[in-house]
Amino acid sequence: MTHKTKIKVGIVGATGYTGVELLRILTMHPQTEVCVITSRKDAGVAVTEMFPSLRGFLDDLRFAPPQEADLKQCDVVFFATPHGVAMSMARDLLDAGVKIIDLAADFRLKDEETFSRWYKMKHACPDLLAEAVYGQPETMRQQLKFARIAGMAGCYPTSIELGLLPLMEYERDHPGTFDLQTIIADSKSGISGSGKKADVSLIAAEMTDNFHAYGLKGHRHQPEIIQQLRLLSSSRNLDMTFVPHLLPTIRGIHSTIYVRFKDAGNPLDLQRLYEERFADEYFVDVLPAGSHPETRSVRGSNFLRLAVHRPAGKDLIVVLAVEDNLVKGAAGQAVQTMNIMFGLDEKSGLAWPALIP
Ligand SMILES: NC(=O)c1ccc[n+]([C@@H]2O[C@H](COP(=O)([O-])OP(=O)(O)OC[C@H]3O[C@@H](n4cnc5c(N)ncnc54)[C@H](OP(=O)(O)O)[C@@H]3O)[C@@H](O)[C@H]2O)c1
Repeated sequence: MTHKTKIKVGIVGATGYTGVELLRILTMHPQTEVCVITSRKDAGVAVTEMFPSLRGFLDDLRFAPPQEADLKQCDVVFFATPHGVAMSMARDLLDAGVKIIDLAADFRLKDEETFSRWYKMKHACPDLLAEAVYGQPETMRQQLKFARIAGMAGCYPTSIELGLLPLMEYERDHPGTFDLQTIIADSKSGISGSGKKADVSLIAAEMTDNFHAYGLKGHRHQPEIIQQLRLLSSSRNLDMTFVPHLLPTIRGIHSTIYVRFKDAGNPLDLQRLYEERFADEYFVDVLPAGSHPETRSVRGSNFLRLAVHRPAGKDLIVVLAVEDNLVKGAAGQAVQTMNIMFGLDEKSGLAWPALIP
């Protein structure tokens, strides 16, 4: 299906960090028109009053309370909200013919019980979980073409799953190549990954010139990463350790991912494997052998850059992956997904380079 008129977009939760990033990206998208944006706390406020960065682009738009906003006039509604919001509004919107793209976790996990255990709430529409498609274009493109609901991949999971994609598919085709019990993802995220909220641990004096891990007891992205890696590798036994860290930067995720060959002498050409797998993926850039990708090389862009190493030629593979958590990790990937769902050019509104410095 291709659209002759502009796609009408609604955004629930447009005052937050992923919400305003959606607004920024959609102002550069030639085939969309943002019609409805919501906020409970700032209902009635003009979007340009809150975000002067959007003056000259969205001058007539005001935040509406979510329950009063006319979201049913839209072709697609993005939920840039905490988990639990999209699932409470999904059925009504779907019945009205509106597609849903949720940046939260309501539609990522396939198993209802796993969702309830990790997110401490009952799922409001478990019958829709089977239909929802995981929002990750590079792995779910065909399914997304026909999807009514996309449950967008999380920010950390995007860097880890795409970082491991060539290895997981190789394992699927050559079972037993890698040790699937000892995968480690050591990931670091800038502070905007925590959203726009007042939290003493996130204030400048606590964050600046400081660095630490968190979530070792169990981070909510872990079941999602395991679900997807099992799917990609066709291995039900796969397990992994995920260690997130908070970086004293605003944007950016850097994941260092460790995978062992089962056979130390395996001659697999990793560089070639990665280059071939991503040759047709515009937004995934495999750097030359020996590279160390930097978070600033993707800041503000929808690119994910990767490097694959095998230090000293031993049995340990080290993958380095960087992305902007708010773009490829959230709003950019959501727009890329929308492009697929509406039969548009996947790059539409998204093909710009990173900001340096
Ligand atoms: N930040 C990232 O890097 C990132 C990356 C990937 C995915 N995500 C996910 O994307 C979602 C949004 O993240 P964010 O960082 O943009 O959060 P945020 O900055 O805290 O913004 C949340 C937005 O949701 C609205 N909201 C909160 N509770 C609501 C409710 N019950 N009903 C309707 N609206 C509500 C807020 O406005 P009002 O309170 O005024 O309504 C605000 O506009 C989260 O699920 C997050 O996990 C975030």
